Amino acid sequence: AAAPAPAARPADPAAAPGEGEPAGQDWSSWPTYNAATLGFRNYWYPVEWARRVGRKPMPITLLGEQIVLVREGDKVRALHDRCPHRGVPLSLGRREFDGTISCPYHGWTFDTESGKLCAVITDGPESPICGKVSVRTYPIEERLGLVWVYVGDGAPPPVERDIPSELLENPFVMGGRTDIRDGNWRFAAENGFDEGHAKYLHNTALWRLFKVMPAWNKTRVVESEKDGWLIRVQDEVHWEADFPGLGTWTNKRWWKRMPLPDAPGKAADINPVIKEMDLPGFVSIRLPGLLRVAYPHFIHYEWYVPVDADHVRYVQIMVRFEQGLKASVFKAKYVSFIRWLFHGQFTGQDAWMVDVMDAPPEKLYRPDLSVTAWRRLIERSGLKVQREKTGLER
Ligand code: FES
Repeated sequence: AAAPAPAARPADPAAAPGEGEPAGQDWSSWPTYNAATLGFRNYWYPVEWARRVGRKPMPITLLGEQIVLVREGDKVRALHDRCPHRGVPLSLGRREFDGTISCPYHGWTFDTESGKLCAVITDGPESPICGKVSVRTYPIEERLGLVWVYVGDGAPPPVERDIPSELLENPFVMGGRTDIRDGNWRFAAENGFDEGHAKYLHNTALWRLFKVMPAWNKTRVVESEKDGWLIRVQDEVHWEADFPGLGTWTNKRWWKRMPLPDAPGKAADINPVIKEMDLPGFVSIRLPGLLRVAYPHFIHYEWYVPVDADHVRYVQIMVRFEQGLKASVFKAKYVSFIRWLFHGQFTGQDAWMVDVMDAPPEKLYRPDLSVTAWRRLIERSGLKVQREKTGLER
């Protein structure tokens, strides 16, 4: 006998991605986000370790803009990486005189601070075009050992606006990595805040030999007044999960120290700075694309900095709010295994997914509530989308 046809199932409101939201075939519900292939203007972005930027010109791409970084003593300068004469990249140029960069083609020479054409080697010191042409310069700062570049219009806000306040208010030690990964920056940001992937994708990460993750249910996303973080809150922890592929969680002792509201033993043995932050959940995201994962003794931050439509600069740091011996022990642990296990293989799994995923179209499920909350934050934040060639002299 033929198998009975399955009964039609009523629509399950619990399966909707967020209140009043469609099931998400495309991104038309989030038009600003949909248009933000190259990210958002008017933010400071970390782009490179300050120690790596020297006198030799270093080309970078940020929000689709070609930029050249050069160091002048204790200052790093950033200029649009295009000679206005015939469009040759200035990053291929030479450093003939202090404080300048000379285009390799005809020797147009620009002041690296103002961007003004200050000498033309092939037209003599009195060349009449001197002072009449300039290349765009970018506001630049150094914080946390990183170079920060502002892509925006008008006078920039202090760079501190775009750095988590706990990193400005407390001494800490840190280790970190930066690299450029394949995929659009939005996929990287969504992956970081995505609840479901942590339970499954990372099951095979070696990091989990040390920090096993339980499974959660009943996720909420709340907005923190401090620094505009969206915080993912897990209201129910499944300490024992017997689905195939999930396993059971043996490392309860460690997880009991997590700053989860329902974790037994919460607040015991937590770093005082992290305890003071009083986070309702341990994963948070904020504009323009920064994830924070707070463990009991350290915090991992990762910035998703748009390079171009298909690449993201992934800046990750692990911070421990300690000084003295504890800081030294952390530093040793970071270089000996955290850097390889967490900032290597674990986040390499994320990079793999960001590279291979392809959406929209998409169909969302209940745990994607975290992703849609992030998109909603962007829609209501009045952001200026970076368009191709925005802000470039042409
Ligand atoms: Fe740069 Fe001619 S293209 S000097």
